[in-house]
Amino acid sequence: MEEMLASTRRFHELPREEKMAFYSRDVTRPVRYVSNGRLLDRAAPADWRDTLAFHVPDGGLDQQSVPPVCREVATEYLKQTLKLKNKLAELLSDAAGLNRDHLSTIKCMESQTMACHYYPPCPQPHLTIGSSKHTDPFCLTILLQDHNQGLQVRNHDRWVDMPKSAQGALVVNVGDFLQLITNDKFKSVEHRVVAQSSTTRSSVACFFGPGSENKYRLYGPAKELVLLGGDHVEPVYREVHLVEFLDYFKSNGSPLSHFKLS
Ligand code: OGA
Ligand code: NI
Repeated sequence: MEEMLASTRRFHELPREEKMAFYSRDVTRPVRYVSNGRLLDRAAPADWRDTLAFHVPDGGLDQQSVPPVCREVATEYLKQTLKLKNKLAELLSDAAGLNRDHLSTIKCMESQTMACHYYPPCPQPHLTIGSSKHTDPFCLTILLQDHNQGLQVRNHDRWVDMPKSAQGALVVNVGDFLQLITNDKFKSVEHRVVAQSSTTRSSVACFFGPGSENKYRLYGPAKELVLLGGDHVEPVYREVHLVEFLDYFKSNGSPLSHFKLS
């Protein structure tokens, strides 16, 4: 984990010419470097952060496409977080009152995207934000942070500083798509990262959602949850596929209220 943060930093502190080779706003590229990743999303203001993103749709990533400064570490970290995700999928299924293999059976967390973020010092932090407020749209996020604070979580109408992570700790965040599948049993949370004037912060977020072969598969509240034990619980959301869900997210922010049944 320490090495993953260190190699994130190493990449972002390379000379601009070396990073330019990876620069792209083409979201279909498996490895890409962007500054201010949500610049073109209508729902988000500009962010004071750079990101090196890896998209691993169904397992493998071509080693040669990974920047040499983080090749070995990133490959290992992707493998380990995938294992952790499988364990979390069991625990979360269980905690939601579903069969232990439910979330893996419905293949809602098969694709993995890793965002290695770098928040440079900002000369006027009161005028901008490191990462503007959002909910994570996929099912699950595993977040690794360095020792610099900045992450805040919304509690009603207040922003609360996330306490500094203990060394070796990860933050696990439920995303909107998992809230839909669990029919509001698990809640996705709004969060943001404030800009800082003198520190450089690094973080690595791994997102898990349906893979490419399931991007048009319809997902809705798990049947077992809406008919649990004969007590009829109304489904809160209609069925939707990931593509429609993400399209809505890019233009409007959190899609959940849009897909509510009433
Ligand atoms: C994200 C995110 C938080 C952080 O990538 O979605 O919320 O600490 N990152 O960088
Ligand atoms: Ni997030």
